[in-house]
Amino acid sequence: MSSPLRRRQFLKTSFGVAGALLASGAGAAEVCTKTVAQTEGPFYPGEGNILPVNDLTRVENASGPALGQVIYVKGVVRDLNCAPVAGVNVEIWQACASGRYNHDGDPNTAALDPNFRYWGETFTNDNGEYIFKTIVPGAYPADTDWDRPPHIHFRVAKRGYQELITQMYFDGEDLNSRDKILERIPARLRRDVIVAFAPNADEPLTQMGVFNISIEKI
Ligand SMILES: [Fe+2]
Repeated sequence: MSSPLRRRQFLKTSFGVAGALLASGAGAAEVCTKTVAQTEGPFYPGEGNILPVNDLTRVENASGPALGQVIYVKGVVRDLNCAPVAGVNVEIWQACASGRYNHDGDPNTAALDPNFRYWGETFTNDNGEYIFKTIVPGAYPADTDWDRPPHIHFRVAKRGYQELITQMYFDGEDLNSRDKILERIPARLRRDVIVAFAPNADEPLTQMGVFNISIEKI
């Protein structure tokens, strides 16, 4: 089993609060807008298949690293008062660099990457932080007239909170503006699920993006 990514990967940046509004005036409460839910899609691997691994770029006995641009996706899971939530189960699943899911239901004929892990999970720490190491997934055809932009599926769950299933997108992708799922999201919520990636100072040739998530108590 791969060891968890090290704590130092959390750069000492101050996390922006996605969708946060700080009302003016003494004693005003901070409010975090709930991250918009999106379809699970047809390729969720199933709870029993999600592995407790947050580095998707390496597989045991692999012939090499996964294909594609290596990225870190990190963020803070907060409640709607913007308080960090510890112990949240964060699962991700995605296509490999060619745009193929490792799922029997994927009709895409693009090549699978045997050195990519395709899904993983982690838990937020005491500060509500999570991090994954993965690659930028490829775009893939969802229909004859519709290519899905690169995206990563998220399932975020903790007892006492509403489960959130959503998708994270990459800023600057041309397909974002033509995606039939993304375009249905109101603009002010859409901004929160499109993440800008930048060179990662901690590791050459990798990129880092921050995807903060807000969940609601039951
Ligand atoms: Fe997908």
